[in-house]
Amino acid sequence: MGNMGAAILFVLVRRLLHETRGALLDLGASPDYKDSQSLTPLYHTVLVEGDPSCCEMLLRAHATISCHDENSWHEIHQACRYGHVQHLEHLLFYGADMGVQNASGNTALHICAVYKQEHCARVLVVRGANKEVKNYRSQTPFQVAIIAGNFELAELIKNHKETDIGKLLN
Ligand SMILES: *[C@@H]1O[C@H](CO)[C@@H](O)[C@H](O)[C@H]1NC(C)=O
Repeated sequence: MGNMGAAILFVLVRRLLHETRGALLDLGASPDYKDSQSLTPLYHTVLVEGDPSCCEMLLRAHATISCHDENSWHEIHQACRYGHVQHLEHLLFYGADMGVQNASGNTALHICAVYKQEHCARVLVVRGANKEVKNYRSQTPFQVAIIAGNFELAELIKNHKETDIGKLLN
């Protein structure tokens, strides 16, 4: 098969997958169906960076946002851990709580600070994430960034002003 054929096939398969997913939800499949570890499809798509449109479709079908693993890592923590910005944006648009803490008290912003996810950190501060929340070691996201040696990220967190909130919103 030539390149052209492969490209057409790719587009067709993608469309078919897209329609099938929607169809399952239309047929009444619960978007909150949990696997053996009590994790939802939404959680998995954020974790493995599934197609962002799939993430959005689940959210539109009222998928619950509050699933977490045994260490209280929620969807937004995973999005920030792996720098899945589009998933993060969808989660926030559909009301994900930016203040939620994992079992060590770390918020999504703390996690960006640890894993050097600048793009996600920027999204969080622009959307108004509270920078003063402390983890259970009494560290703010700024302090965590310094400890991790992520100085640019620390600067970004420190320099963000309340008045900047909404600046990048369109
Ligand atoms: C909570 O998040 C921090 C930052 O990523 C991580 O180092 C810590 O291990 C997490 N806590 C648990 C209990 O998983």
